[in-house]
Amino acid sequence: MGPEEITAAAAVIESGHIAEGQVVKEFEDAFARKMDTKYAVATSSGTAALHLTLLAMGIGSNHEVIMPSYVCAALLNAVRYVEAAPIFAEIDPATYNIDPGDVKKRLTRRTRAIIVPHLFGLTADLDKLLALNVPIIEDCAQSVGGNFGNKPLGAFGDACIFSFYATKVITCGEGGMVICNSKKLANRIKDLKAYDQKDRYETRFNYKMTDIQAAVGLAQFAKLDAFIQRRRTIAQKYFRAFQSLSLRLPADDPAHIYYRFVVGLNTDIQLLITKLVQKGIGCARPIYLPLHHCLKLTGYPITDNTWRTSLSIPIYPSLSDQEVQRVIEAIVGA
Ligand SMILES: Cc1ncc(COP(=O)(O)O)c(C=O)c1O
Repeated sequence: MGPEEITAAAAVIESGHIAEGQVVKEFEDAFARKMDTKYAVATSSGTAALHLTLLAMGIGSNHEVIMPSYVCAALLNAVRYVEAAPIFAEIDPATYNIDPGDVKKRLTRRTRAIIVPHLFGLTADLDKLLALNVPIIEDCAQSVGGNFGNKPLGAFGDACIFSFYATKVITCGEGGMVICNSKKLANRIKDLKAYDQKDRYETRFNYKMTDIQAAVGLAQFAKLDAFIQRRRTIAQKYFRAFQSLSLRLPADDPAHIYYRFVVGLNTDIQLLITKLVQKGIGCARPIYLPLHHCLKLTGYPITDNTWRTSLSIPIYPSLSDQEVQRVIEAIVGA
């Protein structure tokens, strides 16, 4: 955050119109343009964006929705809000992304969608996932500004959701967005996210974004390319510094936006976390708890092993070169 966000938020406050209005519309339009989709609908969070997308796709009880187990609980919550059954899939340990081969084994007549997070900033295997011919909801909460081939991420699935939570690639404190190319889907999501002044009553939500949030979001959005560039520069410093260590490193892929820089060991990562935290380096397992643990399920050995052995180290645009060097020295010396 910098003076641009402060000026933008202040201008909205001074205007006297702070609820959802023209600035949210500007944010939506800017988003749709950059992501090359026809429609964008802003929401109060990424979870709200996913909830509304599932509802608008007509997904409910008796339906199954596939997602990786190795992801945050927001996905599980949204699927449960609509009373569908969450079905967890394994990941490819080299990319941390959902494994299309494992998804295929879990398809049934009740499968209505696959939620595909492009986890930690790396594009999932969209070719193989799209070939399954099941509706796909891309989740770009961690990969705003990523790409697949020469096209921006987000336009490959039936819809795509984003999060602008405080620690995300761009932020407005809390916030979310859905993008899609279906007018019907976009209109349904718009209708469901606000309850006031509707002629026909049905259960609706208050999932709107404010113009204050949108003003901050627009200022952040203007910095997106620079943010990603800085993330990639830091990642390359880490790659160079760690290449001779026995650490598992992320995929060195030009499409990666390095929302997280995840390193791994062959053993449990806890000892390394403890050592780094003692040296003042903030770091943690990138996924707090795999979702199959939340539901007390077993049978996900790849996810379990990845979770046990993986660590996310600091990587964000405002990290200075000296701080990057401190992280490197702490890891090399650990
Ligand atoms: C992959 C993924 N999807 C969805 C969400 C949910 O977003 P929010 O926190 O804005 O509800 C998150 C947020 O942490 C996320 O990481």
